[in-house]
Amino acid sequence: MARSVLYLPASNARAIEKARTLPCDAVVLDLEDAVAPEAKVEARAAAVEAIRAGGFGPRVGVRINGLDTEWGGDDLDALAQTNVGFVVAPKVNDAGDSLGVLESLPGTTRLWAMIETPKGLLHMMDIAAMPRVEALMLGVNDLAAALGTGPSPDREPFKPWMASMVATARAYGLLAIDGVFNRFTDAEGFAAECAQGRLYGFDGKSLIHPSQIDGANAAFSPSEDEVAKARAVVAAFAAPEADGKGAIRVDGQMVERLHLVAAQRLLARLDPRA
Ligand code: COA
Ligand code: MG
Repeated sequence: MARSVLYLPASNARAIEKARTLPCDAVVLDLEDAVAPEAKVEARAAAVEAIRAGGFGPRVGVRINGLDTEWGGDDLDALAQTNVGFVVAPKVNDAGDSLGVLESLPGTTRLWAMIETPKGLLHMMDIAAMPRVEALMLGVNDLAAALGTGPSPDREPFKPWMASMVATARAYGLLAIDGVFNRFTDAEGFAAECAQGRLYGFDGKSLIHPSQIDGANAAFSPSEDEVAKARAVVAAFAAPEADGKGAIRVDGQMVERLHLVAAQRLLARLDPRA
């Protein structure tokens, strides 16, 4: 599961300590945008130490600086000496950028590719097709700046890219992680944006503050109603009357075997190891 993906600056020792106790599905120790240039080297050492010490939840990764910056290469070299679960690569423009990151890392380390540049949007499919890529992440702040989008309460300008990202992730069996919501004190706005992300099919959301975790976990978990309906579909197809049938009746509606597959997929998401 990757319902709640919490970022924190790797330069913030208190946030690292706190992240070990929080119920988020994934933690990303950031070396990039959240760390000032003068703190980059110290933050890298802190991230490596934190990964070695462990104690986080199911998934922990590090966001490196771009390989076209003075820090990116050293970030990769340092992480290559750890067993970090995944590396978040910022501003991935094409498959070549992914390869540059992956070839330095141990074979068990996965790549989470941030799509946050116009070129990244256009090459999303090639990026997703690379081996060891595990997730596509929408980087809304950089993307808004690069595209020149105007303010929009409903993320109107991002909708085509949100839909493209989910379709690409599904086509290649990857996680699709929605972008951050900056106004972390606006709980209502955050809940609405989580619901929108869920509607588009995202698996989870990038978070910047602990107060966003519970809302994201709830929004990206199957609801009780969805679970009950899925169980009814599975039970109906398991009954002897459904033998040899492609379409059956459940609660007054036509249900086909494709709905059975969707129901099984939904129920599988209840498994905490998923
Ligand atoms: N991860 C873990 N812990 C965090 C956290 C995070 N992202 N953000 C805040 N906290 C902790 C604080 O350390 C504080 O801990 P404590 O009081 O229990 O000791 C507690 O949560 C409350 O924090 P709060 O005072 O509300 O936040 P702040 O004003 O100190 O910080 C931000 C606000 C936005 C600067 C901070 O949340 C942050 O750095 N977020 C992540 C930014 C980031 O990584 N951006 C890159 C991706 S876009
Ligand atoms: Mg950024």
